Amino acid sequence: MCGIIGIASNKAVSSNIINSLKKLEYRGYDSAGLATLNKNEIDEKKCSGRVDQLEKMLFKNPSNGSIGIGHVRWATHGIPNVTNAHPHSTEIVSVVHNGIIENSDNLKKKLESKGIKFKSQTDTEVITLLITEQLKERQPLESVCNTLKQLKGSFALGIIFKNFKDIIIGARRGSPLAVGYSNNENYLGSDSYALKSMTNKISYLDDGDLCVLSKDKVEFYDLNKNKINKKIHILTNDQNVANKGDYKNFMSKEIFEQATTAKNCINEYTDSLKKDINIYNFPILPSNIKKITLIGCGTAYHSCLVARYWFEELTTIDVEIDIASEFRYRKLKFDTNNLYIFVSQSGETADTAAALDICNKNNMKTCSVVNSVESTIARNSNWVLPIHAGPEIGVASTKAFLGQMIVLFILCLKLAKVRKDIDHSTFKMNLSNLEKLPEAIEKSLKVENSIQLMAKEFLDAKGSMFLGRGLSFPIALEGALKLKELSYLHAEGYPAGEMKHGPLALIEEGLPVIVIAPKDKYFEKTLSNMQEVIARGGKILFITDHKKELINENIRFGIRMPSIGNLLSPIVLTIPLQLLAYHVALLKDCDIDKPRNLAKSVTVE
Ligand code: M6R
Repeated sequence: MCGIIGIASNKAVSSNIINSLKKLEYRGYDSAGLATLNKNEIDEKKCSGRVDQLEKMLFKNPSNGSIGIGHVRWATHGIPNVTNAHPHSTEIVSVVHNGIIENSDNLKKKLESKGIKFKSQTDTEVITLLITEQLKERQPLESVCNTLKQLKGSFALGIIFKNFKDIIIGARRGSPLAVGYSNNENYLGSDSYALKSMTNKISYLDDGDLCVLSKDKVEFYDLNKNKINKKIHILTNDQNVANKGDYKNFMSKEIFEQATTAKNCINEYTDSLKKDINIYNFPILPSNIKKITLIGCGTAYHSCLVARYWFEELTTIDVEIDIASEFRYRKLKFDTNNLYIFVSQSGETADTAAALDICNKNNMKTCSVVNSVESTIARNSNWVLPIHAGPEIGVASTKAFLGQMIVLFILCLKLAKVRKDIDHSTFKMNLSNLEKLPEAIEKSLKVENSIQLMAKEFLDAKGSMFLGRGLSFPIALEGALKLKELSYLHAEGYPAGEMKHGPLALIEEGLPVIVIAPKDKYFEKTLSNMQEVIARGGKILFITDHKKELINENIRFGIRMPSIGNLLSPIVLTIPLQLLAYHVALLKDCDIDKPRNLAKSVTVE
């Protein structure tokens, strides 16, 4: 899950490559590099660390070529250092790669047996060396096709050649790749977002496609060098530009714009005059839907977990949820009356995209809940429900999680209504609660000062636990995930009722335990589970929407949240947990928008 870019132009390309790489840093940020054809030589510049470093290198030592490729890396094979950074070049060819070559060890052995030496520990270098070998006797396109036929695994590639100075070759299998068109300039990029500032005309490569682009022409081929045609998409103007405004970082901006995110999303899907939900054209007749399977990764998976409780509560549809990386390898029984829903902010997550492919191959009806409507997952599903959250830049997902939950709730409510699983007054009450949600979110954000105080309790902690039951269980998981990824502190999310089956052994004097207990059918039970933790010395941080006075000497901190009804409580209760993770990370001086070892879009398996 790296980002790649290629530009063929009639002027120097390095500064546009740098600008695009900055947009692609959400895919990886442990090293960066570019190569241009400068004075008939491959001019490669790379560094470990961020694109800013690479930019500084270019200030001192410019790269003036009018054709070039660039890369931001999220290390898979080999530590993140300069040698392993991309591009990987020989004297005659230079390659950037996103993906994983699964048979690289075998290919490497074969090349080494011919006396060929490797410089890096990457899987990518085999591609460079195989193409170099092929080029001794063949033209570039044939050399690349022959090389690709030897590769197992996934890739999106950008390749330039010393002796064919007008062209960049791109290729895709498994990892996304887009082509952009402009006057006297054409582009290759991991996504359209990286190309948006240069063009709004985009084509997407499908698996097995190659492209050959020069400054005034783009041609597409299959692996057997047959020409193919591609549709050109005109991108819409995104008003919600990725810009931090007055915020310290993107994450705080994204947390604090959640009331607006909710409002936009609800407005898109509801008709306030008719008091109805604007969702039509279901891919399966609602009354025929027997089962819904919800699939996602990480935070997106947590939104599926929340939705499971909603579908169970409001509909008579059977619900199953799965983590995409597990789903894709399970021995599944497909049924045409099942609806498969794929949840993904980026729409590019490799495991989720692969799970979707499996369903498509089995002729299942698929729906995606995505933020990026131009993404692979959106394009490959039968039905798309966008979350309308605008670009989410912080690696830790916040407003997209909220948007995913809202769309899934709206879908569930509409299905419940049209299937007549609920009566009209239940529909009306839930819709009215939904309309009140943006205001409740606005109020929830006001707890920030109390959360800042709570955050200090985590500085010397060995770890922490997040507990909840029912709809608050997935929120506990999400709270723990946010804390882990942002502050690098160990955190566990657990259903509160499960503590006595093992995790209670972890409780010791002063361990922070966050108890999420809305006023629902589990409330008293959660309080009992909390007592078991108190009895063993756990330091309780209590989050509730219950009006009752609960704070006592056993509870270190209590946060009271606005009440929005049982079903929507997870959306409101997520907010203090996002703020908590944010403030702990801030106190620990962590990189909020780009936590270590992670990337925003996980495009490798
Ligand atoms: O783009 P996606 O929603 O498919 O991404 C899925 C996960 O990689 C993502 O939610 C990840 O867990 C976040 N970093 C969590 O904050």
